[in-house]
Amino acid sequence: MSADEDKYPAESGRRRFVKGVVGGAGLAAVGTTGAVGINSATQSPGSGGGSTTAMAIENTAGPAPRGMPQIPVEIDDEGYLKGVWPEVKEVDQGGRTIEVAQTDMGGQTYSSEWFQYCGVESYQGIVPSYESDNYFRSDSGPAYDWQSEELEGGDRLNVDMFENYEEWGNGVGQAGLGKPATGRWRSEDTENTIPIQVIRSPIIEDIANGNTDAEQSIVDWLSASTQKGFIAWLNKCTHFCCVPGYKQTQSSASFGGEDGVYCACHQSVYDPFSIVQTLFVARPRPD
Ligand code: FES
Repeated sequence: MSADEDKYPAESGRRRFVKGVVGGAGLAAVGTTGAVGINSATQSPGSGGGSTTAMAIENTAGPAPRGMPQIPVEIDDEGYLKGVWPEVKEVDQGGRTIEVAQTDMGGQTYSSEWFQYCGVESYQGIVPSYESDNYFRSDSGPAYDWQSEELEGGDRLNVDMFENYEEWGNGVGQAGLGKPATGRWRSEDTENTIPIQVIRSPIIEDIANGNTDAEQSIVDWLSASTQKGFIAWLNKCTHFCCVPGYKQTQSSASFGGEDGVYCACHQSVYDPFSIVQTLFVARPRPD
């Protein structure tokens, strides 16, 4: 199944465009636009949610309203990749005390609320206190030959698997941008799978090391949220919740998505090498 039943409201014909850019003026503009997108979910009972600022891989084409949220990466002593899950805090929200996994990182507030959309807000793995080892694990039917040859579903991703990241290519678009894998996170022993995608990329490494003309706020954020060029995100299209893919289909080239993350459902494209701040209304977790 490629889409969740819990979808955004049907499109009104007017493009719901809540994508942000980083910077004072840009952010102010996002705030204004964001208000238009607020839906009745904010009034629902439940925990957390509401207006949320997340760091995301940029949506560059198609009907998706904003980028997909990043998952900060850490690497353990043996080279295995994990997604950062912040410490659980109790915060007061609208007169109620709720749990949220939240921390300050690279000049941003990273929060479990970044992932509360497309029904993911009801997944067990998104409950702040859900116990997980937080490793990124291979999914069972990966779209990449290297991954299906080397890994079984459930195997943890390791840095050693990405050694050729500066040359890797698979005939879709340009080679040398980065080596990808698909997987899951905080999903073992749960009913729902949280789909993620990872790329190890020299471009991300350059930005995080301050070797590009990226804004300082992005450099700060990426140097805190990526490691050794590894970037990860929640792989749920912000349009109607399909699972997109980086360099997974030749037909993505017809929509300018051969070097991006392409959603085959309605041709949205995301640029995993362009990180932006997005404002959206996170859905509350069901009580
Ligand atoms: S679900 Fe519509 S473009 Fe992805």
